[in-house]
Amino acid sequence: MRLGLILIALLLAPLAVRAAECPAPPAEMRRIHMDLLAHDRNAAAREGIRRPGHGLDDCITCHVVRDAGGAAVDATNPRHFCTSCHVKVAVSVDCFSCHRATPVEAAR
Ligand code: HEC
Ligand code: HEC
Ligand code: HEC
Repeated sequence: MRLGLILIALLLAPLAVRAAECPAPPAEMRRIHMDLLAHDRNAAAREGIRRPGHGLDDCITCHVVRDAGGAAVDATNPRHFCTSCHVKVAVSVDCFSCHRATPVEAAR
């Protein structure tokens, strides 16, 4: 009985690790990221909405794309994580007029 539960826990452990990587598995993220990121702009500006682990900065930091020189590419670059997909589906987002499109890092 116990052993069975332990085996199940061991089998599920890698899934838990994956979940810790991205807020949701890739297939799900493709569908739900816009809802996850959505905010009422006025509320955000007034009250400072923060969802730990779901901040845009976290996405940008983990999904950073670098150019040949090692610098993080901006959202105007077609290789930028968000832009690379959005150009294909003709979606344009204005998030980066307010938010950073690149991780905060020490000057290179
Ligand atoms: C007009 C400026 C503005 C635009 C445009 C904007 N945001 Fe925000 N956003 C804010 C402000 C202000 C906050 C609150 C910041 C804080 O709490 O530090 C915020 C917070 C957030 C947060 C939660 C906190 C965090 O640090 O990430 C998310 C997620 C987010 N915005 C995603 C988006 C996305 C996705 C878009 C584009 C669809 C977008 N925002 C466009 C101003 C903006
Ligand atoms: C700790 C690292 C990490 C964080 C933080 C993170 N992701 Fe991910 N994300 C991944 C990994 C790893 C994958 C799977 C491999 C890949 O597609 O790059 C992934 C996959 C995705 C995918 C599917 C990509 C595809 O090509 O199918 C989307 C969309 C996505 N993430 C969006 C986001 C958004 C939006 C945020 C912020 C709310 C975020 N991610 C935060 C690591 C992260
Ligand atoms: C794996 C491909 C993929 C990646 C990577 C991706 N997106 Fe998207 N995104 C889409 C698709 C496809 C849509 C359109 C979905 C629809 O219209 O139903 C979309 C729509 C959106 C929308 C809603 C736009 C609107 O006008 O309705 C926001 C906001 C958004 N993405 C933000 C982001 C951000 C921020 C990133 C980078 C952190 C990102 N996306 C990365 C595929 C992606």
